[in-house]
Amino acid sequence: MFKLAKFPFLTISLGLCVFAIPARAQQASSPKAAHKHTSQAGQTAQDPWWKHAVFYEIYPRSFQDSNGDGVGDINGITSRLDYLHDLGIGAIWITPMYPSPLVDFGYDVADYAALDPLYGTLTDFDRMMAEAKKRKIRVIMDFVPNHTSDQSPWFKESRSSRTNPKRDWYIWRDGKGPGQPPNNWQSWFGHSAWQLDPTTGQYYYHHFYVQQPDLNWRNPEVRKAMYDAMRFWLDRGVAGFRLDAVSRLFEDPNLHDDPILPGKNAYGDPNIQHKYTDNLPEIHEVLREMRKVVDAYPGNPVLISEADEPNVRELTKMYGGKKDEVQLPMDFQIADVNKLSAPEFRKLLDEVENNPAHGQPHYFFSNHDQARTWDRYGDGVHNDQIAKLMAALLLTPRATPLMYYGEEIGMRTTPPARKEDVQDPIGKIGWPEEKGRDGERTPMQWDTTKNAGFSTADHTWLPIPPSAAQSNVSVESKDPHSIFSFYKRLLALRESEPALQDMRYRSYASLDRDDPYVLVFLRKNPGSGEPVLVVLNMSAEERTVKLDLTPLGIKNGSAKSLLSSPEIGKDAVPLADLKIAPFGVFIGAVR
Ligand code: GLC
Repeated sequence: MFKLAKFPFLTISLGLCVFAIPARAQQASSPKAAHKHTSQAGQTAQDPWWKHAVFYEIYPRSFQDSNGDGVGDINGITSRLDYLHDLGIGAIWITPMYPSPLVDFGYDVADYAALDPLYGTLTDFDRMMAEAKKRKIRVIMDFVPNHTSDQSPWFKESRSSRTNPKRDWYIWRDGKGPGQPPNNWQSWFGHSAWQLDPTTGQYYYHHFYVQQPDLNWRNPEVRKAMYDAMRFWLDRGVAGFRLDAVSRLFEDPNLHDDPILPGKNAYGDPNIQHKYTDNLPEIHEVLREMRKVVDAYPGNPVLISEADEPNVRELTKMYGGKKDEVQLPMDFQIADVNKLSAPEFRKLLDEVENNPAHGQPHYFFSNHDQARTWDRYGDGVHNDQIAKLMAALLLTPRATPLMYYGEEIGMRTTPPARKEDVQDPIGKIGWPEEKGRDGERTPMQWDTTKNAGFSTADHTWLPIPPSAAQSNVSVESKDPHSIFSFYKRLLALRESEPALQDMRYRSYASLDRDDPYVLVFLRKNPGSGEPVLVVLNMSAEERTVKLDLTPLGIKNGSAKSLLSSPEIGKDAVPLADLKIAPFGVFIGAVR
């Protein structure tokens, strides 16, 4: 076993490629603690649980229906906690369950300190929390700070008159002239971001749907109300928040027009650069305040930011200058590569691995807003194999991974076939170019019973895709070659291999850096276990990699397979001539 700490600069020669790994920049706590159990690992500020846990996003409408109304609910989630525990999940992020008119299916919140009866009661919630705790699963709430529903009592007051005490809780402005909005800002969901309210003759700003007016984060009363709402859930034991659309909190107070770009979008509007409504520097002050709110609670609660940062420099800012903002900024650069490109993934993984804040990377590929991995990365021929490749890419680098319900069974995106079936309003506005997000939100496929075991209702809120007959937990758990079985083995390996558990800075190093098709990297834990080599073939041809790891102190020229797909058996494979099948995955121990 090599000890990286011995070498201030290590040079690795791999074929023609030579590169240097600087010595570890920082040492954290005991690797033993990290190895224990992902969900309960180290509870120190240096090595907190959220660096080790596998996160799993639940879209509650679609996970499990317990009362037969065709919509998933809290008791449904509780009934599936054993499943999540057995899978190896350490934390669930549940998308919004607050009272809501459901224009944006919960992202239009009418009350931040309550639950929509559709999902259950606070008693149901507390029971879910207690049952999750028994299984060492933490619960993350989705927090929607940018906007409320137009049915929120706050907005109802605000719109009632120009002098209402809550008037300034939202962004109200006069139009430029009769029938003319204050400026050219556009909603992310199409058309003008300004809506004229006849009661007072002013426009309010909405970054998303008309029914989602933006809160005014320059108003201290708004901040206080929102921080109190966070405390309401922290008091009930939640382990943190995923901060929805947090880069959109502020707008230019001088209302400069946004720059117009060439072409039109799916809604028929001119393309626009959201220069004056996205990523304004003021958001960092709010993130620091939110961090103080969660830091006042025990157990290292976590903040996760949903902010589509354009590059690693902007992403790094989310950690905060003093690491005093968000612990896990979701990495949209990696999520949005959208093609199997070893050089592209290598570049982005290296960049975030070396982020100057030394912040913990946070990767995902699927969620409730984007097409599922199975089809987005699938080539139409090898989709199941590619799904396994993507699982390995998510779960083996040094990062906190975020899965999306159903990716473990290779659920596919099933958009509505007809406009009249569309539920998500953006699919109605943008049809047929933009079909909305229903396709990635269809119910979880558990088994071969009615509605794939999701619900006993005659109609589920979204239909069960035909692929559910084969792609479901019950069928796949009996097939050792299924996507589900691969995920289970991979998640177990992530738990058992110290090298995969090590989250200290630079426990990841990419190798074979000029290879156009194969992504190769090494994970290591100088404290225990063997280094682990990960080889991912992102092409439809068999490839051969030639690795010389002797400069890293790895004398043995072979790797012992820990997990591979297609399976290659348990025999050691030569590093100097490592053959990897089309879209193949090889994870092996080296010494
Ligand atoms: C986030 C959510 C998305 C929602 C939007 C507006 O991007 O992920 O589902 O529509 O915010 O709240």
